[in-house]
Amino acid sequence: MLSPLQKAGVLTEALPYIQAFYDKIVVIKYGGGAMVDPALEELVLKDVILMKLIGMKPVLVHGGGPMINHWLERLDIRPEFIDGLRVTDEVTMEVVEMVLAGRLNKGIVSRIQGLGGRAVGLCGKDGGMIRARRVEGDRDLGLVGEILSADPGLIQTLIDQGFIPVVSSVAAGQKGESLNINADTMASALGGALRAHKLVLLTDVEGIFLGEGDGRRLASSLLAAEIPGLIASGALTGGMIPKAKGCLEAVEQGVENVHIIDGRQPHALLLEIFTKEGIGTWVKKAD
Ligand SMILES: Nc1ncnc2c1ncn2[C@@H]1O[C@H](COP(=O)(O)OP(=O)(O)OP(=O)(O)O)[C@@H](O)[C@H]1O
Ligand SMILES: [Mg+2]
Repeated sequence: MLSPLQKAGVLTEALPYIQAFYDKIVVIKYGGGAMVDPALEELVLKDVILMKLIGMKPVLVHGGGPMINHWLERLDIRPEFIDGLRVTDEVTMEVVEMVLAGRLNKGIVSRIQGLGGRAVGLCGKDGGMIRARRVEGDRDLGLVGEILSADPGLIQTLIDQGFIPVVSSVAAGQKGESLNINADTMASALGGALRAHKLVLLTDVEGIFLGEGDGRRLASSLLAAEIPGLIASGALTGGMIPKAKGCLEAVEQGVENVHIIDGRQPHALLLEIFTKEGIGTWVKKAD
């Protein structure tokens, strides 16, 4: 336990970081694999509430891969992914929407409320936040959406009213159909549209690993421009593909601080924000 004087010292040491982040929008993507432990989730949500109360403007975007898979399996549907995107037929889309925009989104909201924060849950359909269309490619992904534009108005209103927006990555397509959007893609687009100061993607690995065999290491930083090459070479696979593409897009839209960090680590968010070193992988615009 810290003595009262030590506690005061810790708080004072945090002052420059609190000043640097005061009034700044921080978009946080909270990913599926890192969401499954309730005790850990409570720490993440407490970190977000703390950030809010010391003057930052956190926006939470969540995924939910494992819980969607759990419900699909109960319906005897086998999850299928192509380049990190979930192949989404109509029944899968119904499950995605029920799980993401329903149970998960409202669960996070009520847990934030239970911890004394104020949160509002929404998805890309609310207030016309996300305009999307079906992804077209060599292989049909079904009801997977790509974002045409993001309107930050509703989220900004909620931030201005003192709420923590909690966003699930479901949106409407051009014919009003529900589309499944990768949550990293959604977080990056919102980060750009909100002119966020920082985008933090909490996931289930320490960050981006590069290299082969014994030489495989966590990249503590990476140039955004390197990402297309890393995808083409196969260095990034699965869910890391949309995640890294999202980082590139956020950087291109002017988000200066883009980080992929390990959401399994207790207080990962605070470690990233309140230490000079930071953790995980920092995706930079330039050296
Ligand atoms: N080079 C790489 N470095 C690190 N992880 C990688 C790399 N290439 C692929 N991955 C994979 O990317 C995964 C993270 O993306 P994934 O989509 O599975 O999780 P998430 O985005 O946090 O959760 P969700 O998709 O449910 O929101 C890692 O668990 C890892 O298996
Ligand atoms: Mg993912």
